[in-house]
Amino acid sequence: ASLHGVIPAAGTGSRMAADRPKQYLQIGGHTLLEISAQTLLRVPGMASLTIALHPQDDRARGLPLLQDPRIRFTVGGEERADSVLAALLAITGTEDDWVLVHDAARPGLPLAAAQRLIERVLAAGRGGILALPLVDTIKRADREGLIEATLERDRLWRAQTPQMFRLGELTAALQQAAASGQGVTDEASAMELAGHPVQLVPGSPANLKVTLPEDLALAAWYLGAKEG
Ligand code: C5P
Repeated sequence: ASLHGVIPAAGTGSRMAADRPKQYLQIGGHTLLEISAQTLLRVPGMASLTIALHPQDDRARGLPLLQDPRIRFTVGGEERADSVLAALLAITGTEDDWVLVHDAARPGLPLAAAQRLIERVLAAGRGGILALPLVDTIKRADREGLIEATLERDRLWRAQTPQMFRLGELTAALQQAAASGQGVTDEASAMELAGHPVQLVPGSPANLKVTLPEDLALAAWYLGAKEG
């Protein structure tokens, strides 16, 4: 089975309060999208990389680090899951190929973490995601903002990407989730809904998702490079 990469990069970055979608913010002179793509392309055996873009966006096509012949672009959708599904459908591969889905907004992914995920998934023969155990105590609130419960921290993890699944199973799971009207914010959620077991593999703090303006400086620090 071959290995493929997918990067959803069709978001508009509305939480970032920046002049452009966050995947086009820069660290060390390159966009977050380019840095994320470069890491996936360095994964041994990566056969193709499909990047989902906003329909009105073609700036990605001209970026210097996105000229690899393994890259192809597709048009993304309304939600992240729609963008991922569009990219999966554009892959030339077979049902039992593996696909690694990685957020454009996580430029700090260490290559070693991606390789750890691949090793564990291939060894177990079932899908998995990078994730980090929680360090904070987590509260669930009621509608008034009063604490309703304190959750059992030992069993709570923060999902990261890449998330790695069989191409056929993930495509079917995302189609099912879409048909059922269940919103999913990551690939694992769709797989869970479809009843597939998903394993957690230790990720890295460097692999944070750039969401708020201050995240960019932190991501740059992890990469040992300058913002911009
Ligand atoms: O908004 P959020 O932080 O969840 O976005 C995660 C990733 O999903 C980003 O790389 C963003 O560009 C992408 N995305 C997408 N299509 C959407 C919404 C988000 O590809 N409709």
